[in-house]
Amino acid sequence: MCAATSRYSSVHARSIEDPQGFWREAARAIDWMEPPATIFEPAAGVYGRWFEGGVTNVCHNAVDRHVEAGRGEQAAILYDSPVSGTKRAITYGELQTEVRTLAGILREMGVEKGDRVVIYMPMIPEAMFAMLACARIGAVHSVVFGGFAAAELAGRIDDAQPKLVLSASCGIEPSRIVHYKPLLDLALTMATHKPEACLIFQRPQAQAGLVPGRDHDWATRRAQAQAAGVSADCAPVKATDPLYILYTSGTTGKPKGVVRDTGGYMVALRWSMQGLYGVEPGEVFWSASDIGWVVGHSYIVYAPLLTGCTTVLYEGKPVGTPDAGAFWRVIEEYKVAALFTAPTALRAIKKEDPQGLLMRDYDRSSLRTLFLAGERADPDTVDWATAMLGVPVVDHWWQTETGWAIAGNPVGLGALDIKVGSTGVPMPGYQVDILDEGGHPVGANKMGSIAIRLPLPPGCLPTLWRQDERFRESYLLEYPGYYKTADAGFRDADGQLFIMGRTDDIINVAGHRLSTGGMEEVLAAHPDVAECAVIGIHDDLKGEVPCGFLVLKSGVDRSPTQIEAEIVALVRERIGPVAAFRLAITVNRLPKTRSGKILRGTMKKIADAQSWNMPATIDDPATLDEIAAVLSARGLTKVSAA
Ligand code: COA
Ligand code: AMP
Repeated sequence: MCAATSRYSSVHARSIEDPQGFWREAARAIDWMEPPATIFEPAAGVYGRWFEGGVTNVCHNAVDRHVEAGRGEQAAILYDSPVSGTKRAITYGELQTEVRTLAGILREMGVEKGDRVVIYMPMIPEAMFAMLACARIGAVHSVVFGGFAAAELAGRIDDAQPKLVLSASCGIEPSRIVHYKPLLDLALTMATHKPEACLIFQRPQAQAGLVPGRDHDWATRRAQAQAAGVSADCAPVKATDPLYILYTSGTTGKPKGVVRDTGGYMVALRWSMQGLYGVEPGEVFWSASDIGWVVGHSYIVYAPLLTGCTTVLYEGKPVGTPDAGAFWRVIEEYKVAALFTAPTALRAIKKEDPQGLLMRDYDRSSLRTLFLAGERADPDTVDWATAMLGVPVVDHWWQTETGWAIAGNPVGLGALDIKVGSTGVPMPGYQVDILDEGGHPVGANKMGSIAIRLPLPPGCLPTLWRQDERFRESYLLEYPGYYKTADAGFRDADGQLFIMGRTDDIINVAGHRLSTGGMEEVLAAHPDVAECAVIGIHDDLKGEVPCGFLVLKSGVDRSPTQIEAEIVALVRERIGPVAAFRLAITVNRLPKTRSGKILRGTMKKIADAQSWNMPATIDDPATLDEIAAVLSARGLTKVSAA
């Protein structure tokens, strides 16, 4: 379908011209205990609040209402875990029972509305029960991705100050068992804030030691609660109350606690399932992400369940569990209508099965659309997937902060022509401008900083957890009246957006968002390191990988190779394996401007074999040649100055 037949233009125009009317109508898809008195209150919060006065409950909308409406026997969750050899279908009725019980246990353990609960769990159904149980009683969850190290977990615990931590004995990576409990124990010794208790789910692959008086066994508590008829009903929660905090990389080592509210989030997600993804209640939606990321929060857990869909919870990888046919098997087995994944997953599959031979073994006729996000989708990968799968491949752009897509191709409204390399058009409520250095909008096809006019639509963050000022400074200050996305790109003459990269120190490694500034803090903490710089360099599989440059302190006589190995281990220990930090390179000096600013951008261009010009402000031009020579000696680049 093309622009002429899609309803997109009129729908988007209406959302901008009459936002109150547009979102009032969208809000009818949600059950409210008290309908909102106002659709948008500009005087509330940092830049206004959506659905002020509304009272509702996310768990009711995601679970109970579907049981009441007759979906009790429909699968809510299809858990598929090739890494543990487990499959389990959980109906909406069973989900309600589990969540009611767990919510009752949380209450028994002293968790009340507004209290925070940290969830540090692998991709198992209990993690979803935990999120929904928090929502049921109005507690604020904060899920921490399993690939982070203890120090990262400790930082999040200190910031969120949870009453309780929910965890499991282990996660399972294809190459190893990840023992969560020792990481949690270490994090709790490092953290200043001490939660009152931990509830630990024991998986058969590893038995966690429990600390008497603090740790509780999940299965025992569940059995006791069931025997005693413990359960909790859905608590009334204000639309503007937080549903969760999700920490994401900021421009320093200290992550930002993105706050998600209750009412606006539900309304936006519910709209997106039909309007953007074109998926109807009862259909199967699969987001092959992780619940530790925003995509997992929104499109493994909340959006599909709010819509009465069946969601697939996949604990595995695109390749190696057992092979590059895994995704196609899941599509056939569960009749998946829409798949959402990161381009890196497709690159991994393409690398192992370039001819798509494994696809032929599976019936993929249920799949209507493949959605990509999380990092730039390179045209080669999109073209390959389109040719192999024979379905539209839709790239769409969003951030942890927004909670749902800023731009995409609205399949549910009638898809627009796909332009490979573009992430589509702004979704309802988003007014996206490309700004020049002075903050003025630029015309078509001109690169600039991408900013969203305030107010942000429902679903986006209202603030950072207990840090209104940091929220203002990080996002609102630079371009008055706008939210700064920190992405750069352009818009073509048809209004399609092209996202080309970040304007800050964030890099995207295999679809995982990481801060190079955070890594530099770790490198700088090594006793032998005088100076350092970390940049993201191109990687065919992961999109980008971090590469650290070290200048050693004078007088250090230990072998640079050994120090480099220690640095690699240190990043893994402090940030976690997810950082995929394997390249540490010792250099004599770093290229700098005369005012002492490290020329990271030029270093990246050299490493990525892009053409580069000698910066006019460089202190000593020879330093860049030295970097090029070092990279070349390590087989990391081949290019010289233009
Ligand atoms: N718990 C513990 N460790 C984890 C983890 C988790 N949940 N997830 C990843 N790790 C570890 C990996 O085991 C790996 O460890 P290693 O250094 O010992 O090998 C390390 O973190 C790096 O992981 P990753 O970058 O994911 O690389 P990989 O080689 O394991 O897998 C892909 C590569 C492309 C298959 C994988 O990254 C992938 O599927 N990415 C999709 C990402 C995604 O869905 N993002 C969400 C946005 S939509
Ligand atoms: P995260 O907060 O982890 O979702 O990461 C958000 C960042 O990932 C964005 O600011 C972009 O830099 C990048 N990103 C997400 N989706 C896309 C996309 N479709 N195309 C290009 N970059 C993207």
